Amino acid sequence: MCSMHAESGKARKEGGVDRRALLAGGALLAAGAGAGVGAMVRGADTTGVARSAPEPPPESPPVPFHGLRQAGVTAAQQPATQLLAFDLAPAATSDGRAALKALLGDLTRLLAEAVGGTAADPRLAGGADARISSLVAVGPGLAGRLGLSVPAALADLPAFPGDRLDPARGGGDLVLQLCAADRWPLSVLTEQLTGAVAAKGGGLRWAQSGFLPRTPAGTTPRNLFGYKDGTANPAENDARQWVWGAPGPHEHGTVLVYRRIRMDVAGFAALPEAGRDRAMGRRLGDGAPLTGAAEHDEPDIYTKNPDGSYVLPATAHVRLSSPRLDGGARILRRGYSYDDGPGDRGLLFCAFMRDPGQFTRIQNRLAAKDALNPFLEHTASAVAYVLPGAAQGGALGERLWG
Ligand code: HEM
Repeated sequence: MCSMHAESGKARKEGGVDRRALLAGGALLAAGAGAGVGAMVRGADTTGVARSAPEPPPESPPVPFHGLRQAGVTAAQQPATQLLAFDLAPAATSDGRAALKALLGDLTRLLAEAVGGTAADPRLAGGADARISSLVAVGPGLAGRLGLSVPAALADLPAFPGDRLDPARGGGDLVLQLCAADRWPLSVLTEQLTGAVAAKGGGLRWAQSGFLPRTPAGTTPRNLFGYKDGTANPAENDARQWVWGAPGPHEHGTVLVYRRIRMDVAGFAALPEAGRDRAMGRRLGDGAPLTGAAEHDEPDIYTKNPDGSYVLPATAHVRLSSPRLDGGARILRRGYSYDDGPGDRGLLFCAFMRDPGQFTRIQNRLAAKDALNPFLEHTASAVAYVLPGAAQGGALGERLWG
């Protein structure tokens, strides 16, 4: 037993480096070098001498707005999220570019003030406690109309078998995701951002709110099926290859794939627990793969039972979504649950990747035979290029103009 646990500890390390340390490295990149140094000296007073009893660090330190990467992708997930998609006025190309540039400047200012606790609106006076993070992303349609410099692979997704997509709930010229400790700042910010877009002749296309259970920092939240969701996410070294753009104008940018997936929670719960575990390929209780002992053990898609069948069944969700079936490609999943009334609850699948083709390859395998399919319905979809972060004094989107 002990040796199995020691083994699972080893499985969590990649190249001898702890996954969480690497993920934390990503957060420092997001915060920028200055903030990173600030975080490192937090235990010392202004003379540089360590205090005898340093204050314990907050559960998940707030991530500043400015940095190489947008904090809406890198900050610890918060209990509340709001997705917003806007359509901009179909103006002449040159005017459209100028209008977009001005709008991105306005959005940068509003978001930076809200995150920094310096907004004039007293309703946003929550400061760091609000733990606001955000991302701003550009849809493929707008990028094409204005000839913006976005990753070549940015394109709408193909149709998948079983899709029941409502176009009014998906797509959009700009997609924003706001996250916070609770809904209050999200509601106020939504009002401000919508006003800023309207002032430039655009309008809200769709909005979707979501939530997560409160979980201790560093642990994995559960989805409405009850399973831990977000376990097998890439550490920084893999993320650099598969999630963030290659060095160049899109480095520190990424592509968001959003899917609104309705879940038949009661139907799935009616399966015996062992059946649910086989459908998922992981155990409900501790989130460990059926081939492992601990949550962060890597699912082993090759191990067989004595009768020759796979321990991770052929239709198990984690087999079909395994990076081993896709040349090691990884996506960063940051899902939220949603509840839009009885019969319409589920998962807001939000994932980040260098190339949306990574999602397409996984979803083609899932759509063909995922054991979860009888309990799922994809009802909306969006793809958008998440801009690199804004430097202090700069604006989002400075490398869009090519
Ligand atoms: C409501 C629908 C879905 C549910 C309830 C769900 C749930 C889960 C759960 C519980 C896990 C195992 C824990 C973890 O590693 O996070 C997982 C893993 C994963 N899922 Fe999903 N998922 C859903 C949809 C999707 C979709 C649409 C995709 C992509 C097309 C996807 C891709 C993945 C990937 C890549 C993994 C990690 C596989 C690995 O590296 O082991 N999932 N999902």
